[in-house]
Amino acid sequence: MISKEVIEEIKYRNDIEDVISGYVALKRAGSNSNGLCPFHSEKTPSFTVFRSSQSFYCFGCGAGGDVITFIMKAESLDYRGALEFLAKRAGITITEDERDKEQGVRRTRVLEMNREAARFFHETLKNTPEALKYLARRGLDGATIKHFGIGYAPESFNALTNHMHKLGYTDEELKTAFLAGISEKTGRAYDYFRKRIIFPIINTTGEVVAFGGRVTDDSKPKYLNTSDTPAFKKSKNLFALNYAKSHCAERMILCEGYMDVIALHAAGFQNAVATLGTALTAEQARIMKKYTNTVLISYDSDEAGQRAANKAFTLLGEAGLETRILRMEGAKDPDEYIKKFGKLKFQNVIDGSFTRFDYKFLKIISENDIETTQGRVKAAALACEEIANTPSSVEREIYIGKTADKLNISADSLKRDVNRLISRRTRKEQKEQTQKIIMESQGYADRVNPDRIKNLKANSAEEMILGIMLKFHEYIKGVNSGKFDLKAEDFVSDFSRKVFVAVTEAGEDFDIGILNEKFTEAEMARIIKMQVLREGLTVNDKIFADSVNTLKEAGRKNTLSIEEIINKKRNKTNNK
Ligand code: CTP
Ligand code: MN
Repeated sequence: MISKEVIEEIKYRNDIEDVISGYVALKRAGSNSNGLCPFHSEKTPSFTVFRSSQSFYCFGCGAGGDVITFIMKAESLDYRGALEFLAKRAGITITEDERDKEQGVRRTRVLEMNREAARFFHETLKNTPEALKYLARRGLDGATIKHFGIGYAPESFNALTNHMHKLGYTDEELKTAFLAGISEKTGRAYDYFRKRIIFPIINTTGEVVAFGGRVTDDSKPKYLNTSDTPAFKKSKNLFALNYAKSHCAERMILCEGYMDVIALHAAGFQNAVATLGTALTAEQARIMKKYTNTVLISYDSDEAGQRAANKAFTLLGEAGLETRILRMEGAKDPDEYIKKFGKLKFQNVIDGSFTRFDYKFLKIISENDIETTQGRVKAAALACEEIANTPSSVEREIYIGKTADKLNISADSLKRDVNRLISRRTRKEQKEQTQKIIMESQGYADRVNPDRIKNLKANSAEEMILGIMLKFHEYIKGVNSGKFDLKAEDFVSDFSRKVFVAVTEAGEDFDIGILNEKFTEAEMARIIKMQVLREGLTVNDKIFADSVNTLKEAGRKNTLSIEEIINKKRNKTNNK
């Protein structure tokens, strides 16, 4: 743990408005500042920075927190990483205490083990002719094998484990690194990767953080991957980013598979990366945004690949990236395409990359016979759907023109259809939004605080109390000194109680920053909301004491079970 004093110092020297303006164009409005939320796509600013309480809250998506939460989200860092980031920004050195050092040791130890294992796998490959033959058959030459540090895990339950034991690593450590499993029967470690080609995953600072292992035949599963360890988070890493990061100023190529990336790099496209056996995450999209402006999606041409490409389009767009899609005909993935048609042809594919609309439009045209009236009507309707999905009005104009030309329909009537779709969708969204707000205010589907609905009165008192304590720290002191008679047991919902305990335990030197460690992002946002809703509120002891009384009174009434609430509602409607 980093000490409270250091956290305070870090926050003090990183003014929230100053930090956030590096990410969001903020406009001052009174004591707050507003801008477009970087965490969801929006056209009108609902992202607010509260200068006095040094916090932010988005009234659109509900994201919120302090400067540490912001950096955690914006830079895809964990709590510790965000503190280091901000410390560096302010020129502060973090002094570690013992427990923290231990964490660091665990990570360092895993990284050491990984490097050792990578070396072991690479050496083993050199001595395994069948594995080398397999790679040669897939078109990988010696230079590529070396460049990516590719290796081979032998068909043995203890080859790596024995090797690592000799170097002083314990079973427990091997398990933490995901290099070994522990047998339930014997209680002993066994190699996790066996009889597989090994692809080391190397982060941007050159550390071996994980491995992917592919079978050399048709056995299942085709790939095994390292799960999350103290040194690795799947959702925050990209394969080959260590190389791609210096070749992607203009654009980056995003693939599905290790083999695609390797084939592309070998052919001179060193700006290719891949996700690690999972769908693209928002965190990965944000990481890509740090290195490039444009992403070329180069997924498999099968249906699953195209569906994934669609999702990637949205995520990348939300991260503020320009996106294009590569259309490869006659091959199932980039690896096969390069093998079959060569790198010049692939360059042509890149040069002819499609925007999302062009890509969809081509598909619409090919799937509908536009020589028939019926086909044209259908194609026009589908194209309008697609155009209505495009946020930029300039782009919509261009696409309407294209569609009009191709289908020989007047641009005016297309435009009317598109506008009708847009307003219908806006109405629907507004309705859904209202519905959502009503549901939320009634406490339904509340994942952060599921107890809320059971006793709304007690819960709003709890939120008032906590909001005041979070905003005006003298009330924390007041509670701890017994000036106000309030105990953890008085709280009705588990969530509020947990917040109360965290706040009162920290006592006088409470800072909202320390909550980042104990609460999830969603919980953090809720906590900030409690505080934010008390902005501009004049608080005095009487108001606080009244809230405490309200809580106690409401808490004494039995809280209702969900069944009781539903029954009560039903009776009410029946009586109408
Ligand atoms: N993947 C995985 N687990 C599986 C199958 C796939 O983690 N059981 C991940 C791997 O990261 C793989 C990617 O999904 O690289 C794409 O899968 P696929 O297209 O099946 O594999 P390729 O990498 O194309 O491998 P190959 O060309 O050797 O078939
Ligand atoms: Mn493949």
